[in-house]
Amino acid sequence: MKLFLDTANLAQIKRLNQMGVVDGVTTNPTLVAKEPGEFEEIVSAICREVKGDVSAEVVSTNFEGMVAEAKRLSTIAANVVVKVPMIPEGLRATKAISQAGIRVNMTLVFSANQGLLAAKAGASFISPFIGRLDDIGQRGMEVVEDLVKIRDNYHLKAEVLVGSIRHPQHVLEAAKAGADIATMPPEVMEKMMQHPLTDAGLKRFLEDWEKAKKAKASITV
Ligand code: E4P
Repeated sequence: MKLFLDTANLAQIKRLNQMGVVDGVTTNPTLVAKEPGEFEEIVSAICREVKGDVSAEVVSTNFEGMVAEAKRLSTIAANVVVKVPMIPEGLRATKAISQAGIRVNMTLVFSANQGLLAAKAGASFISPFIGRLDDIGQRGMEVVEDLVKIRDNYHLKAEVLVGSIRHPQHVLEAAKAGADIATMPPEVMEKMMQHPLTDAGLKRFLEDWEKAKKAKASITV
């Protein structure tokens, strides 16, 4: 399973990328708006840092605008994937953009049927937003489970990219469901590393080591 970071913050991306655990990055207009600098410069810097796929989203909502933005974004770097919203014009744009050889991540997917349409239109990635579904009392992971089943039933080429992840349990559930990718805020990836027994175990190993060292030193004196 691939793990992506859902952020446009270069410092956080660099920190985690150095650990060898980052396969790609997803951004969206909200995440980019939080960072200083120009959109395309931010995307370009992320693409230089991370070798894997980096999603950058269009902000147009009509066919012509989305296609034009996609073409421009795709010139930033070879690993740019263009995020297109799951609206009727977005499907039409996805068909045209993917036929132009540019990979599309269809975003704002909230049902398996939307995901099926995204794959049919030519999207390389389908992004169900599970946290936002959980927020309205619907089990977001059910959409992921359905999409994984549909992907396998029909050998779809589109990858299921789970977004709107809020905690490590979401990542685990996405992995168990067979999702291709989970994209998460850096804080969630940091939490995945943590376990109190790891910290307690390490503390004890180091204390025992120091004690033994002192004991050996007192014998040899
Ligand atoms: C995915 O690609 C989106 O950028 C993201 O996961 C949205 O998550 P949110 O619901 O936390 O904003």
